[in-house]
Amino acid sequence: MELLKEKILKEGTVGESGILKVDSFLNHQLDIQFLNEIGKEFKELFSDKKITKILTIEASGIAIASIAAQYFNVPVVFAKKTESKNLDKETYDSDVYSFTKGKTYKIKVSKKYIQANDKVLILDDFLANGYAALGLINIVEKAGGSVEGVGIVIEKGFQEGGKRLRESGVNLKSLVTIESLENNTIKFK
Ligand code: G4P
Ligand code: NA
Ligand code: NA
Repeated sequence: MELLKEKILKEGTVGESGILKVDSFLNHQLDIQFLNEIGKEFKELFSDKKITKILTIEASGIAIASIAAQYFNVPVVFAKKTESKNLDKETYDSDVYSFTKGKTYKIKVSKKYIQANDKVLILDDFLANGYAALGLINIVEKAGGSVEGVGIVIEKGFQEGGKRLRESGVNLKSLVTIESLENNTIKFK
């Protein structure tokens, strides 16, 4: 997506240890007009699929999923990472390994909100090692639903997530893929 490449080159910065910072429009401040273009692009990319639900993970996936959902006219469900007294007792759970934090955490979705007849599109802002996406896929499978696709705003091509998901047969589409962040320079694939 050319518009997204331009936006990343204009506003993105390279942080420590291979992190691309896009706080001005995606991860802290949200540029809604711009995110609408991303939402439309996801709709285009998955227009051949009949989607009944969009699934993401808190926190930063929620914005992009909510914006995109307006073009699909379906509800958004976000997996919870934090223990919450409000959450229903009956949940589908999955363990997610965080490469950056070096530990495993649990994600949960109430059984009410993903069901066997759901055709799910998984959306997230970043794809790095892919464990978050795999955890979400695992939850849909536990519910008996089908994963129609995984849409990612920024794929980090130099980490293993993309390979991992494509090799397991996932219909993965990323709006841009970063080839390298070396020498503080953003290079696209
Ligand atoms: P992964 O295996 O699921 O791909 O994730 P990993 O543990 O490598 O990354 C941990 C968190 O850091 C994830 O957010 C992921 O989206 C984010 N992340 C990874 N690489 C980058 C990057 O280059 N730039 C930015 N801005 N974020 C990156 P999270 O823990 O789910 O946090 P949040 O959604 O609550 O913010
Ligand atoms: Na994040
Ligand atoms: Na995220």
